[in-house]
Amino acid sequence: MKLAVISLGGQSSKSIAEESRSYFSSVSELSIRSIEVHTTLNGSQVLCDGEPLPPFDCVYVRGSYKYALLQQAISEVLYKKTYLPLHPSSFPLGHNKFLTLLELQKYNVPVPASYFAGNIKSARKVLESAHYPIIMKLSTGTQGVGVMMADSVSSARSILDTLEVFNQPYLIQEYIETNATDIRIIVAGDKVVAAMKRKAAHSEIRANIHQGGVGVAFTPSSDIEEIAIKAAAAIKADVCAVDILESGKKTYVIELNLSPGLEGISKATKANVAKEIASYLFLQTKAYKAHKISQDYNKFLSGIDNGNHTSQIVSHVDLKAGILRIPERISKLSGFRSDEEVIYSVGKKKLVISKT
Ligand SMILES: Nc1ncnc2c1ncn2[C@@H]1O[C@H](COP(=O)(O)OP(=O)(O)O)[C@@H](O)[C@H]1O
Ligand SMILES: [Mg+2]
Repeated sequence: MKLAVISLGGQSSKSIAEESRSYFSSVSELSIRSIEVHTTLNGSQVLCDGEPLPPFDCVYVRGSYKYALLQQAISEVLYKKTYLPLHPSSFPLGHNKFLTLLELQKYNVPVPASYFAGNIKSARKVLESAHYPIIMKLSTGTQGVGVMMADSVSSARSILDTLEVFNQPYLIQEYIETNATDIRIIVAGDKVVAAMKRKAAHSEIRANIHQGGVGVAFTPSSDIEEIAIKAAAAIKADVCAVDILESGKKTYVIELNLSPGLEGISKATKANVAKEIASYLFLQTKAYKAHKISQDYNKFLSGIDNGNHTSQIVSHVDLKAGILRIPERISKLSGFRSDEEVIYSVGKKKLVISKT
């Protein structure tokens, strides 16, 4: 089975690709910067360096929010033919903090009270009636950049004016008292593969490691695990990181990361998180293919039952040492017996095998 990791080429993507080599028969590392998506009357296509993307069994699309539209477009084209750990709709949702919260709320995943205002006048009104401190953050910030705390209406107003100057979408959020800690959980399907608690540096509220936070291994309660898994499922992200704030007995999900860095959490937990993800991708791809194959198989059988003696099955060419191998299910359904005399009608990109 073939895997492609489309990413910005960061260390975590490289580690996942590297670990995947012991599972997949081939692993291609592709730069998201070299990808284009074309759509015409004849259909849609993903290209890499100007050439059509060859078929893959699994395509793991990573990279920052700046590529959200491209990531979604790639996935829209490949979806239904390829196992994608991130659904096309994961990208617009997961890369935007406010849309993430809206989606999570639909599935009763607890989130902090958050506001998104369409104009500065209504944002000011929200600030007038807020309980301080509050959090103001950019909808697309990462690694703690773009998260600000305001402890009074006057400081909130000056942050608001600055945000307006930069013309960046932002959200206003209730402040959750956590003693400057957060919980980062890596989810793969219905399993938590790693979790750490991060403590912010002195006089800092943001617990991100990039802001000086320190991560330690953490064993989440089954309730927190369930919340993280549900959050990932709500965004249709089979593999992602979930950031959680815990305050007393309350738990809140603040964001999902579709392309999480793995260095910090691997160091804190001493787990090989990249390997866990690689093995998950492999098992899922296998399950996806088996499911798809059985669907195709059923379609094929119903074609025969209907008296329609030929049917088309979509599969990948399996060429080993110059020998074309036909999938077992197709060989079986054809009814050919060993040594039977057949005619090969071969043309460019075409092969028909029929009985003499
Ligand atoms: N509502 C909040 N209350 C308290 N702390 C928060 C809140 N939102 C964010 N933080 C702190 O800021 C950090 C970064 O916020 P987050 O929303 O995860 O953005 P980023 O994408 O930059 O990581 C969190 O890990 C947490 O420590
Ligand atoms: Mg975060």
